[in-house]
Amino acid sequence: MTLEATTPRDSAALAELEAADRAYVLHPSTQLKAHAHGLSGGPQIITGGQGATIRDAHGNEFLDGFAGLYCVNIGYGRTEVADAISRQAHALAYYHSYAGYSNEPLIELSERLIRMAPAGMSRVYYGLSGSDANETQIKLVWYYNNILGRTTKKKIISRHRAYHGSGVMTGSLTGLPVFHQAFDLPMPQIRHTLTPHYYRREDAGMSELEFSQYCADELERMILEEGPDTVAAFIGEPVLGTGGIIPPPEGYWEAIQAVLHRYDILLIADEVITGFGRLGTPFGCDRYGIEPDLMTLAKGLTSAYAPLSAVMVGDRVWRVLEEGADRLGALGHGWTYSGHPLGTAAALANLDIIEREGLIEKARTTGDYLLSSLREALKDSPIVGEVRGAGMLAAVEFARDPAARLPFAPKYKVGVHVYEACRARGVLARAMPHGDILGFAPPLVLTHAEADRIIETTREAVAAVTDDLSNQGALSGG
Ligand SMILES: Cc1ncc(COP(=O)(O)O)c(C=O)c1O
Repeated sequence: MTLEATTPRDSAALAELEAADRAYVLHPSTQLKAHAHGLSGGPQIITGGQGATIRDAHGNEFLDGFAGLYCVNIGYGRTEVADAISRQAHALAYYHSYAGYSNEPLIELSERLIRMAPAGMSRVYYGLSGSDANETQIKLVWYYNNILGRTTKKKIISRHRAYHGSGVMTGSLTGLPVFHQAFDLPMPQIRHTLTPHYYRREDAGMSELEFSQYCADELERMILEEGPDTVAAFIGEPVLGTGGIIPPPEGYWEAIQAVLHRYDILLIADEVITGFGRLGTPFGCDRYGIEPDLMTLAKGLTSAYAPLSAVMVGDRVWRVLEEGADRLGALGHGWTYSGHPLGTAAALANLDIIEREGLIEKARTTGDYLLSSLREALKDSPIVGEVRGAGMLAAVEFARDPAARLPFAPKYKVGVHVYEACRARGVLARAMPHGDILGFAPPLVLTHAEADRIIETTREAVAAVTDDLSNQGALSGG
């Protein structure tokens, strides 16, 4: 829906709609009781969008500095994608892809993805979400090792603060406590190794390269402790996303891959956020020289115009799956909606826009501008510890004592308050779920004027929260 197509709702009708939301909807990542009782200010009902701007049912407009959930890369209101979905729905809204059945957009998209992906990718399997795609990845890894007769090689190493979804296995891979707590997770096959966050290193004297080697050494220590013949795969986001938007320190992926090669451990690159240009390269793997065995895609694949995810299977794994088929028969895995024609049609139209408008290159230049301007705007702030980013991902991490890298006590909720202060000024960022971190992941179509607005708003919001903290005596030396 475009902005023009939406008009503010009449206030009585809106109050009824909000009450119905509180009465009937179970929202993800929401304080359920506060929401149900109207204590958290919600629901915020979004009714339309255009470019990087969204509008709510009250008629308020917000510059969406997070592209929904890092996904609306081509921006809102792109009617050509809606038209492509509509044309496909009229021609063939659905047929399954089991037992070799197929459809045209599914074939066209698969060929296009293989051509676009880093070298060595061989086949594409489709799901509907990043979570289900990563569930498939783990099953494929286990299947692969079973075909090879390596029946003990099953553990998966992820990282603290990783985010790989919230299913049973993917919630286990996720390295954020709130996704485990009271869900009986993580599953026993999962291990978590170090978060590659240079700013938070314990030894302040380490260079970035030394810290990367330290992370790789820790990984190797874990593999040896577990037994290399029990470790099947390592999964990682090229830039760690929901855990705090943390680009890898220099040399990190090179050092990690050297360890994985040594012990014949598969590498799953989770490109759900970083795929399709967000880092200014087609994939995060391109930017960091990562050579994955398997790749997970979602979000930017359709820019969220339809739910679609993809598991890209590299040659090495594909060859074994193919070999195993004689013995095991048909692959015992699949979803009704694998390769859904509406999703694949949306993806093709989305990729056309990304190519035609040069959005990958644009992400690089706008992203560089956003990051350098944010750094400049916040350089004298007494509460900003680090401003970091890569392409169209950026984060501001707050600290009570930036020089000593000391965090604020959680009770001050600094990240949440800066998010709220930005929102009150019409800009949506994201208070990241772990630590006091404000995240940005704008649509790739963001203009320089919109980037300026994000920067100026953030500067004002940080200054306002700094005043509040100072009044509470929460600042270092305050
Ligand atoms: C890197 C990464 N992997 C997987 C997922 C899970 O995707 P979904 O929410 O579509 O299940 C996300 C979601 O944010 C993600 O950021």
